[in-house]
Amino acid sequence: MSLNAERSYKMKLRDVENAFKYRRIPYPKRSVELIALLAISCTFFLFMHTNKLNSRLKEMEVKLQPSEFSALGLTGNHISGHDAGKHDDINTLHGTYNYLKSTGQLGRVTPMNLNKTRFAGADLVVFNRPTRVDSEQMVPLLRQLAAMNDINVVLNGPVRTMNRTRTEKEQLTESEWASELEGGSIYMAHSNWIDFSGFGLKKPIYISLVKDPIDRMVTDFYKRRSWVKRAINRRTYPGRREKPEEWYRESFNECVRSGSPECRFVQYSVADYIQDFKRQSLYFCGNDADCLPFNSHYAIQVAKQRVEKEYSVVGTWEERNITLTVLEKYIPRFFNHARFLHKLHSKSIRNRNRNNRKPRIDPDVRAIVRRNFTNEYEFYYFCKQRLYKQYLALQFENNLH
Ligand SMILES: *[C@@H]1O[C@H](CO)[C@@H](O)[C@H](O)[C@H]1NC(C)=O
Ligand SMILES: *[C@@H]1O[C@H](CO)[C@@H](O)[C@H](O)[C@H]1NC(C)=O
Ligand SMILES: *[C@@H]1O[C@H](CO)[C@@H](O)[C@H](O)[C@H]1NC(C)=O
Ligand SMILES: *[C@@H]1O[C@H](CO)[C@@H](O)[C@H](O)[C@H]1NC(C)=O
Repeated sequence: MSLNAERSYKMKLRDVENAFKYRRIPYPKRSVELIALLAISCTFFLFMHTNKLNSRLKEMEVKLQPSEFSALGLTGNHISGHDAGKHDDINTLHGTYNYLKSTGQLGRVTPMNLNKTRFAGADLVVFNRPTRVDSEQMVPLLRQLAAMNDINVVLNGPVRTMNRTRTEKEQLTESEWASELEGGSIYMAHSNWIDFSGFGLKKPIYISLVKDPIDRMVTDFYKRRSWVKRAINRRTYPGRREKPEEWYRESFNECVRSGSPECRFVQYSVADYIQDFKRQSLYFCGNDADCLPFNSHYAIQVAKQRVEKEYSVVGTWEERNITLTVLEKYIPRFFNHARFLHKLHSKSIRNRNRNNRKPRIDPDVRAIVRRNFTNEYEFYYFCKQRLYKQYLALQFENNLH
């Protein structure tokens, strides 16, 4: 929107410049000339201000949309994580609890208000997992749940694409296909949210996971450099020249500090240097082209609205106890006994991802990258706050340790 405003402003500016160029100014008396000049510059000044005001007003309009909200009823500015790490960070379970209590909202936090499972019309869970959120660690658990709760885990869908968004036709194919899965299926896909009811289909139970936006980037960075990936590349593209040894040894810190395109996260970018996964919000915003510009305010607002209205649970593997508890209680048909099973098998699950390099990200590097992920963090915190609210609504006696 502001891009358009800027473009039309530039066009107007060009008109004014042209008017100056082609205007033959005769040579009247000095004073007349001065007055004329003064008038023109005044007009110009006013014109510029009006323009600025216009775009400011437009900006404000966007900000005042009802979609500007956090899970705790704060505005975006308050949840940007300035307090991260402090004792009472509101983006923790304890902080969320204290905030709700001190603002008198705690009584209104009930499962009734926070349970979207009730609105699903199909006995189907769609788990549209973003990349690099550790969702693969949930697969063994899902397999155990399958036996326990008589459900069916489906990992491969009908649409094979590396594109970040699905075409209308692909969305239809995928949602129709998913709707025909047998009752009690849980379908996992790296797919953006699809409006099933928009295609005349019954709403499934949507769930997903999120992860700290920078941690996702770090995971991705080292995954690309893992020996597993190297072996896969060798097999998939035999004969292709391999990346040099230094590339494999590079650290995330070096990559960011050197300003390498691989570690630059350019605001509003749509095209990327390499295929990457920096837009966590995209999975929730959907398949619209407007969802693509990186770290855009608009995409994040849409993504938050979708989570609020369309998702039963958006958890995070960083808080697996809480996530599993919320899944178990809000979607018992599929997730009953999840915590018990996870505890029983957590040893073997923990061993799965041992091969990853354990990176240390310098605080200044984290700070540099953080500045470009402002809106992505707002979205991530929104999801966490909502998860904590859902958990607190269950009112376990010992839900605060
Ligand atoms: C990916 O998207 C582009 C542009 O929308 C399209 O031309 C291309 O066919 C898509 N590829 C696949 C495999 O869907
Ligand atoms: C942050 O965004 C700015 C503006 O888009 C860009 O110039 C810069 O390279 C980015 N920095 C990083 C570390 O991503
Ligand atoms: C998760 O729950 C288990 C058992 O209830 C407990 O032993 C463990 O410490 C918890 N983990 C975290 C991170 O709270
Ligand atoms: C949420 O709704 C589902 C479906 O109606 C139900 O099975 C579940 O028990 C509810 N959970 C809570 C915590 O209200």
